[in-house]
Amino acid sequence: RRQGRLQDVHVVITAGGTQEPIDPVRRLTNRSSGKMGYALAAAALQAGANVTLISTTGRQPPFGITYVPVTDVRQMQQALTARFAASDIVIMAAAVADWRPARVAQEKIKKQPGQETWQLDLVRNPDIIAGLGAQKTHQFLVGFAAETQDLIANAEKKLAAKHVDMLVANDVGKPGIGFGAEDNAVVLLQSGTAPQYLPKAPKTTIAAQVISAIAAARTPD
Ligand code: C5P
Repeated sequence: RRQGRLQDVHVVITAGGTQEPIDPVRRLTNRSSGKMGYALAAAALQAGANVTLISTTGRQPPFGITYVPVTDVRQMQQALTARFAASDIVIMAAAVADWRPARVAQEKIKKQPGQETWQLDLVRNPDIIAGLGAQKTHQFLVGFAAETQDLIANAEKKLAAKHVDMLVANDVGKPGIGFGAEDNAVVLLQSGTAPQYLPKAPKTTIAAQVISAIAAARTPD
């Protein structure tokens, strides 16, 4: 039996960048490495939680964490929806594609002789976290906001619009932090409280701080 501040708490975390198929050999994706999500899963496990990691990276998480591999947004949404009622904390650390190819070609798309340009039609993906925000009952919902400008203002908007309980705002325009980096620096936003600045540190350290802040916000002591 695990001990800790999140003992018997069910935590579901998403990690990585979604991959949207174009044809059998091509995918539309982004620069998310999944490191922050994996660090959060390890920190939640350390705090005694029952942890499920829904990940696009193909990497097996440490022993003790339930692993659900997915690739695209709709698989990720399905995996979350199936577990939402039984979860207490959901952390959407994944970088979810806003768009996906309108059609997935069954065969590899070939370039035509003389063809110099190619238009790819895209359609909007569902906003997974906004959907969960609209249907949440007891769940504590945590979103991420990767921004390159007006970090706090843009993140404040997402906090309200998506009905999340905490937003982890990440300035991905700065060198050495964010996508792919070992380190991160974030601001935690919750409605009705002042922004909490977590200065640059390894993602494992930031993850432990985020998990503590979530535990404190759910059950203040
Ligand atoms: O609006 P934006 O994509 O910046 O919001 C980021 C947050 O929303 C992240 O927590 C991300 O996982 C989530 N998101 C989502 N579904 C989308 C797009 C983003 O759940 N289609």
